[in-house]
Amino acid sequence: MKTQIAPSILAADFLNIKSEIDKMKKAGIEMIHFDIMDGHFVPNITFGVDFLKNIRKCCSLIFDVHLMVTNPDLFIAPFAEAGADVILFHREVSDFPLRLIKKIKSLKKKAGITLNPVTKIETIDTILPELDQVLLMSVEPGFYGQAFIPFVLKKIESLKAIIVKNNYKTLIEVDGGINEKNKNDIISAGADILVMGAGFFKKK
Ligand code: DX5
Ligand code: ZN
Repeated sequence: MKTQIAPSILAADFLNIKSEIDKMKKAGIEMIHFDIMDGHFVPNITFGVDFLKNIRKCCSLIFDVHLMVTNPDLFIAPFAEAGADVILFHREVSDFPLRLIKKIKSLKKKAGITLNPVTKIETIDTILPELDQVLLMSVEPGFYGQAFIPFVLKKIESLKAIIVKNNYKTLIEVDGGINEKNKNDIISAGADILVMGAGFFKKK
């Protein structure tokens, strides 16, 4: 499968959001990554359901919604209704991940779980068959423009090995600090989707 780039709209120029979307379309992008931050799970606040709904009016790309919120359960239905295609919640805030996955799927959306850099793959290996995507954070979540954490490469390789061995369909997405220089290493390790904030929008 070809590796996809999913630009994180958080790093876009908000004064010119329409032309930023056109830039993505022109670059052949198929998926946009939305970073939803609540100022509680992470030390930053971004945008909400209305922002997504408005972007949806001018854009039919795949909307990949990364919920960095303490209570994902509250936000699954509103984001599904606003136009999300994939909804990802964090393992660190979900003691009942199967319940959330079921909820996302009942709304006919793809379901994904995100792991912070230090959260082990073993916390989700039993539920991989239920997941469309696993998002491995390669920075501590909260801000774009941080540096890639190198130990995550091994984590990508280990997760890929489990997926291949069991013939699962789960895609591996990697998020944080990805740029032209390190992207080939991340792809070689086994990533299917690369989220790029600064690496896409802040490039000259
Ligand atoms: C970090 C976010 C990322 C971030 C990526 O909390 O989840 O999606 O915007 O931006 P870069 O590629 O600049 O690290
Ligand atoms: Zn993200």
